[in-house]
Amino acid sequence: MAEISDVMVPAEPVGRSAAQPQPTAPHLFAHPAEADFAGFLDFYHVPWRYEPTSFPIAWDGDRVSEMFTPDFYLPEQDLYVELTTMKQRLVTRKHRKLRRLRELYPLVNVRLLYQRDYYELLAKLGYGAVEITSLQPADIERILFSPAELQARVRELGDQISRDYAGRSLVLVGVLKGITFFMADLARAVTRPLAIDYLSVREYAGTDGVSVGIDRDLDLDICGQHVVLVEDIVNTGLTLDYVQRALLARGPASLRVCALFDKGERRLVPVSLDYVGFAIPNQFVVGYGLDYRELYRNLPFLCVLKPSIYRADDVTT
Ligand code: IMP
Ligand code: MG
Repeated sequence: MAEISDVMVPAEPVGRSAAQPQPTAPHLFAHPAEADFAGFLDFYHVPWRYEPTSFPIAWDGDRVSEMFTPDFYLPEQDLYVELTTMKQRLVTRKHRKLRRLRELYPLVNVRLLYQRDYYELLAKLGYGAVEITSLQPADIERILFSPAELQARVRELGDQISRDYAGRSLVLVGVLKGITFFMADLARAVTRPLAIDYLSVREYAGTDGVSVGIDRDLDLDICGQHVVLVEDIVNTGLTLDYVQRALLARGPASLRVCALFDKGERRLVPVSLDYVGFAIPNQFVVGYGLDYRELYRNLPFLCVLKPSIYRADDVTT
């Protein structure tokens, strides 16, 4: 059989009907590096398909004489990825095939990826290459939601609130500080006129146990206003229950609650949530505003840290 790289490519196949991507049947990974890459993508919650498309890149008369099947397709990025090793002979051949594919299918987004490029790819996926390499994913046990998943859900919440408050203006009230990024993204996803205000709460050791009180109060008077209380995460419900009562006492025209994460298993006080981003399991989570000992808030994704990171007496969830 002739070496594939020796096949001559006709000069004018561009635009002919054969130059349509053809779906191929799914198969098992051909190479351990592919399984590794799939594991890497799964860890970071990046959707992928393995070898979904074969592109004809050379013809012998009317017969396709050469195909190029990139290893992966990442639908969120509309990107084909061909993994590559350091073996120079193979790399040269892949470069040639890739060049041909780009000539024939100029709208197809494809890149040759070395293992060292993985973290650069992460930056494009919203993870931020610098942070992720210096923060050692070694700290991270499991990612629950990727930046893309968070952003998509926040947009949906924004759409829903915009529809529900059609023809009205509202006040978004956030409970500091975990709310920082969620509030910024949600407020920009809501298309109604709105004001933003914040309060913070603190736990006080009282005579009959721990109680919650307002530490920093609102600037605005919410009397007669349509208020949406925005919470990062609802756990026992104690914080939310307290804040909700405090706001209701001020006579808003209406009060609804929007929580990004709901850890329902931990509930002690029944609270009703009007908008919920994600229901999550009973694990201590960080990122996208949520902290552990004031760190990890700036991670653009939600994750669980390795058990070794938490101090034994700190986290009871
Ligand atoms: P609750 O009063 O028990 O519902 O607790 C709510 C507050 O605890 C949230 O507003 C967060 O500030 C904090 N919290 C609860 N669970 C987590 C978590 O998993 N990670 C980080 N902070 C959390
Ligand atoms: Mg909070």
